[in-house]
Amino acid sequence: MTVPKHKTLNQKTLRKQKATGQLISMPVADEHIIEVQNYSEKICESINHLIPQLSETAKPLSAGQLKKLINSENTHLFLAKAEGNFIGMVTLIIVKIPTATRALIEDLVVDKNFLWQKIGKKLMAFAIDFARENGASTVNLTCAPRREAANALYKKLGFTLRETNVYKLDV
Ligand SMILES: CC(C)(COP(=O)(O)OP(=O)(O)OC[C@H]1O[C@@H](n2cnc3c(N)ncnc32)[C@H](O)[C@@H]1OP(=O)(O)O)[C@@H](O)C(=O)NCCC(=O)NCCS
Repeated sequence: MTVPKHKTLNQKTLRKQKATGQLISMPVADEHIIEVQNYSEKICESINHLIPQLSETAKPLSAGQLKKLINSENTHLFLAKAEGNFIGMVTLIIVKIPTATRALIEDLVVDKNFLWQKIGKKLMAFAIDFARENGASTVNLTCAPRREAANALYKKLGFTLRETNVYKLDV
């Protein structure tokens, strides 16, 4: 993906510019959300452009891994597309368990050059509608407290904190 050169802004600067009407995040037109159904090199490159903006430690996705992900029945990868470029993504996992249809949102990220333009919100709304249409009655996600923008976005969308323990085991 060719993203035009643009000054990288930190969250504080972005907030200030938004508040004063001076936001210089690159305006997008024609943005819409698609579910990835077929592999393409451009999609793989775009995802690998987004991954480091989500996690400093996550490894790039190989063509083979992306193809498996696309073919997975339970995993739905949604991309925000604008003017031919992929500028954001979110993954929705839907699994059936004995007591429910579980929907889990992971790996939401919008390219740093296109923040504050409701693209994150649109990606989330798309994933939530998709989950609802596929039988889920709740959508779950986790988010590190340090992720200020994401926590604000989730709260704005109506997500509430669940009283539960989240466990992890390295295997
Ligand atoms: C979180 C993220 C996806 C938001 O994307 P975005 O397209 O800029 O968000 P939106 O423009 O849709 O914002 C929607 C709402 O979220 C809130 N929000 C977004 N960014 C915010 C910020 N930096 N600080 C406070 N609130 C913020 C606002 O309430 C905003 O609504 P408003 O514009 O009406 O005020 C983006 O900041 C990102 O990719 N962050 C890095 C990756 C990450 O942390 N992912 C989450 C993993 S759990």
